[in-house]
Amino acid sequence: MPAKGATTEIGEAPVKEPRDVDGPATAPERAGEVRVDAVSRAFRTRRGRVDALAGMSLRADPDEVVAVVGPSGCGKTTLLELICGLQRPDAGTVLAAPAALMPQRDLLLPWLTAIDNAGLALRARGVGREVARRQAAPWLERFGLAEFESTRPAQLSGGMRQRVSFLRTLLSGKPVLALDEPFASLDAITRHEMRQWLAHVLEIEPRTVVLVTHDVEEAVLLSDRVIVMSPRPGRAIAELVVDLPRPRAATDASVVELRERALEALGVRR
Ligand SMILES: Nc1ncnc2c1ncn2[C@@H]1O[C@H](COP(=O)(O)OP(=O)(O)O)[C@@H](O)[C@H]1O
Ligand SMILES: [Mg+2]
Repeated sequence: MPAKGATTEIGEAPVKEPRDVDGPATAPERAGEVRVDAVSRAFRTRRGRVDALAGMSLRADPDEVVAVVGPSGCGKTTLLELICGLQRPDAGTVLAAPAALMPQRDLLLPWLTAIDNAGLALRARGVGREVARRQAAPWLERFGLAEFESTRPAQLSGGMRQRVSFLRTLLSGKPVLALDEPFASLDAITRHEMRQWLAHVLEIEPRTVVLVTHDVEEAVLLSDRVIVMSPRPGRAIAELVVDLPRPRAATDASVVELRERALEALGVRR
C-alpha cells in the first residue's frame, strides 16, 4: 500500500493487458516521429481525482519543432512524460520514437562539473567517464561553454546551466527532445539570448522537438507549429502553422500576428 497521502495512479487498475513496465510507447512508423492520439490521464490525490489530460492529441514529424502552449496545470508536463515513456496513458495511444526529457527545473548535479553533467546521459548508458568527457567536450566548445568545462553548476549563470542541461538532453542521442519550459526561470534578457541560441542549435542539429512553454511569443519564434491547449483537463483546442523564415524576430509583423492568434485561442484576447 502506498504511504498515507501518497499519490496513486488511477490508471493502474483494473489491469487489462500484461504490463511491460519500462519503455514507452510503441515505436512509431517513422523514426523521430511522435503521435499522441486521444490520450487521457488522471491522478488520484488526497483531495480526490484530478483529470490532467482528456482527449489530448498531437503529432510531431521528424525534425519538426512543435510548441505546446497552455495555462498552468493543463497537463503539459504530464504530456511530455507520456511521450518519454515515464507515464502511461489511461486511455488513448502514445507512439513515440525514443525521447529525452529536459525537465522544468534544471537537474544538474551540484557536485559534478559542467562537462560531467553534460555527459550524464552517456554515463547512464554505461559509457565510461573519460569517453563521455571526450564526447561532450566538442559540444561544450561548440556551444560556447568550453572555458566552463570544469565549473560546477553553482558557479554557472542561469543561462549556462540551461545550456548544459540542454546539452545533456541532446547527448542522450535520442531523436526526440521533450523540453519542459526550458527558459521559464530565466530573466528576460537571458531568455531572449537563449531562444536565439536554441534556434541556432536546432538549425545545425535538427531534432524532433516538443517544446512546452507558457510563452506564446517563444512558441512562435521557435516552432514550426503551435498547439494551444485548453485549461485542465488539457486537450488541443487550436493549431497554428508557423510558416515563417528563420531567424525570426519578436517584432516581425507576422510573428506578432501569430502571437495574437495564439493568445486569442488561449482566451487571453477577445
Ligand atoms: N503525480 C501526480 N499526482 C497528482 N497530481 C498530479 C500529478 N502530476 C500532475 N498532477 C496534476 O495534474 C495536473 C496537470 O499537471 P501538469 O502536467 O504538471 O501541468 P502543467 O505542466 O501544464 O502545469 C495538475 O493539476 C497537477 O497538479
Ligand atoms: Mg509543467
